Parts: sequence; C-alpha cells; structure tokens
Amino acid sequence: MTDGKVSIELSRRALLGGLASFGGSVFVGTSTRGLADTGSVRHLIARPGTAALRGEGHKPVSIWGYNGMAPGPVLRLRQGDELRVRLENGLQQPTTLHWHGIRIANAMDGVPHLTQELVEPGQSFDYRFTCPDAGTFWYHPHKFSSEQVARGLHGILIVDEKDPPKVDQDRLLVIDDWRLDDNGQIHRASFGSIGERAHGGRFGNTFTCNGSTDHQVPVKAGERVRFRFCNVANASSFALRIADHTAHVIAIDGQPVTPFEAHDGVVLLSPGQRLDVIVDMTRHPGSVSSIQLLGFEQPVALGRLVYAKDGPVRTDPLDTPIELPSNPLATRLDLANAVDATLTMEGGAMGGMRGAKVDGVFLDMRRLVQQHGYVWSFNGTAGMPDEPLVRVKRGQTVRLRMNNNTSWPHAMHIHGHHFKAIGDNTGDGYGSVWRDTIVVRRGQDLTVAFVADNPGKWMLHCHMLEHQEGGMATWFEVQA
Ligand code: C2O
Ligand code: CU
Repeated sequence: MTDGKVSIELSRRALLGGLASFGGSVFVGTSTRGLADTGSVRHLIARPGTAALRGEGHKPVSIWGYNGMAPGPVLRLRQGDELRVRLENGLQQPTTLHWHGIRIANAMDGVPHLTQELVEPGQSFDYRFTCPDAGTFWYHPHKFSSEQVARGLHGILIVDEKDPPKVDQDRLLVIDDWRLDDNGQIHRASFGSIGERAHGGRFGNTFTCNGSTDHQVPVKAGERVRFRFCNVANASSFALRIADHTAHVIAIDGQPVTPFEAHDGVVLLSPGQRLDVIVDMTRHPGSVSSIQLLGFEQPVALGRLVYAKDGPVRTDPLDTPIELPSNPLATRLDLANAVDATLTMEGGAMGGMRGAKVDGVFLDMRRLVQQHGYVWSFNGTAGMPDEPLVRVKRGQTVRLRMNNNTSWPHAMHIHGHHFKAIGDNTGDGYGSVWRDTIVVRRGQDLTVAFVADNPGKWMLHCHMLEHQEGGMATWFEVQA
C-alpha cells in the first residue's frame, strides 16, 4: 500500500464511521504530519472495526479499535498544551483510557477503582490534562487490557518539542504482534488462558508495523528522518532494525537521552516502550531497505523504506544537532534521604510459589487460580492490595528494589513518573536513563529510583498484560 492509498482508505473509513466531526484535530496515517492542537475535544470511540493487516488481498481482520482503527488516531499537541478527549465506550464490556508515560494529573490516569470508575458500555468519560513532557507516548485501556489491547485498542500520543531537531520527516513505527487463527481472525479462545499468564504471556504470529505486515515509508536520498518506535504488543519484547542504516537514539520512553548510535543498528523495546531515533537516508535513489524484526531464524520484514528515484535532497548529511531539549523532569535524586521500598516478585510456571494473599487472606495456588485467575504475587499479595506499597510525601526520592524471584522476565511500568536504574545493569543495555518501563530479568535484583513529585495514587505493574492480570499489580501513594 502506498501512503496515498492509506489516506484514501482512512478517510473513507472516517466517513463511514461518522467521524466527519473530527475535523482536523486528529489525524491518522503513517506519517506524523498533522495539525497541532486546536484546543477542541477529540472523540475516541472504542468500538469494533476491521483492519487490513495483511493487505488488500486478504480478508480484513475484525478488531476493536479507537474509532474502529488499529492503531487508533494519532493525537498530537505541543508541550505544555492541554489535551481534551472524550472516550466513548462502544464495546460490550467496561473500559478506561490510560495515557502511558504522561506525567499526568492523577484523576486522568485511567486506572479503574484507583483513579476513576469504569466506563461502562454506552457511557463516556472526559479526559482533560496537560502534557508536561515532549516526546512519544501512547494510550490504551486499563481494564481487561490483555484482551482489549490485543484486539487493537491502542494509539499514539505525540507531544511536540517547542524546538525540535531539524528533520525532513517524522514517522511512527508502531510495532505489534497479533495472534491470528486459521481463518485469519483474532484468536479468541486463548484470551484469558491461565497457561499463558503463568508463562511469557500472549505472543502473536503476525507482526505488523502501523497495522500492516508490509508498511512502506517513502523516503528520499539525503533526507533525515525521525522514527518513533512504539511496542504495543501484550507481552513480546522486540529487537528491531532498519537495515543498511545507522540509527541514533535520541529518546527512550519519551525522555531525551544523550544521543548514541544503536549497536548494530538494533533497538530493543519491551512491551509499552517507545524509542525515538534519527536516521539519515544514506542510500542511493531507488534503493529499498527493510524494517526488520530480529530474534527469529531469519529477520522478519515488517515494512520497507522505499527511496524515490530522483536525486538526493542534499549531498552531505545534515550537520544540525539531533539532541532533544530536556523535559521539566525532576532529575535530582536525593538518594541519601530516599524512602526505600522492595518489591519481591514470585510465581509463574517453574516458580514454586505455594500461594499468595488476596484481600489479606492467604490462598493456596489452586484456590488462587480457581477463584481469581492469579498466578503471580508482589510481596506475597496477588492483585491490587488495599494498602499501597509505600506512601511518600511529594518531592521525596523513592528507591525501589525489584527482586525478580521468578523464572520469567518482567517489564515493570510505573505510572505518573519516570525513573532511572541505579547502575548500568539493564537488560537492554540502555543503562541508567529516565524511562517508564524496564525489564527485570529472571533472577535479577534491580534497583530504580525516582522523585515522587506527582501527587496521587499510582499503579506499578508488569506491562506483560497477562502477568498484570495474573496478579502482578500494586500501587503507591504520593501525598500532596
Ligand atoms: Cu501502559 Cu499501566 O500501563
Ligand atoms: Cu511480567
């Protein structure tokens, strides 16, 4: 599919879906070009739709998506601006919207029962908040998320820097894995599988970039392109590469990093993570380079950069800086006076967990599974506890030790704050950078720290969504 076709297809769908009222304030497509915030309310309707994941030659896949599309509309605004979104629930089950990575006002965080009540079928909820940080973020449901996200409910939120690095194109690469059955439809019987909860989670068999198994990015020789990767898969970590090109990482999880060259051009993203890279189009006009998913016997091509036939837009690559302006994040960690918390993870297959508490009552493994579908615990409790892991005063530094006593890696995500690993021992090799999600490898004991400067009740959970639903969830409180 060419870009032209994509936008025609999308506008046709937009009309069919009665989305004319969206005007220019949201836009979709493969490029991130679009209108900046107009201050108007954007509508996101969680509803069934279809997606031509494998191209026009295949039967479309029935999905659930925001405005019937997967990925959903790209929301874009300027740093410091206010976003207003009305979520309408057109599903047959409750939902909410969570704004992953936004250091948001707590009441807008979208966590059922902790920050808001569920949005029932037919109901709506108005989200309204400012985005303090520029960067690449995303939104997704926070109820039944292992099914709702897997069916296609996810979208990207871009917050523009006031003064971004100069690029010729700004492009999203939203990476997903879908599990399709023999009929090419979403495999439904496996939703809620206890076995998958207790293992690595739900893995897909069909890999897409921006909702296509063959996503094409038209480029010109000599251009500089900013790519924004986002891993929206339930449980898979991805190693990705744009073949034949050098990539410089400029941001991780929406936060700027000192630019560095990706080792072998490979970037790693755990579920929920984003990564911004700058890539110069150094090949000849007419070239084609694939966007690859690694870690299989052969690289899986998710799409291609397709160079125009006509001459380079410039002969020498740009020498303008690629470093992003910093975000207003509290980066001074007062470790000497930090509040300490420990999170011990237990359970899962080959974990030897005997049982765990739910609502203060100890249940053996059999009861835990039968009554609650839980197979994991944090500090001996499965699922959201009544009491927070820790309660701190606004502005205090929290030092959180995460002790993975299981046989599986876990992608730990903290709401409302960005944190940093203490020490460089991170599985992705990115080391001690600000981020909102980090993989704790099996058997690993990893300590992170952050400034708890955002008041409210914040969730902390494994972003392998089956693990989250299988019990790996807790929360902490920042008192104003
Ligand atoms: Cu991306 Cu609590 O989630
Ligand atoms: Cu996990």
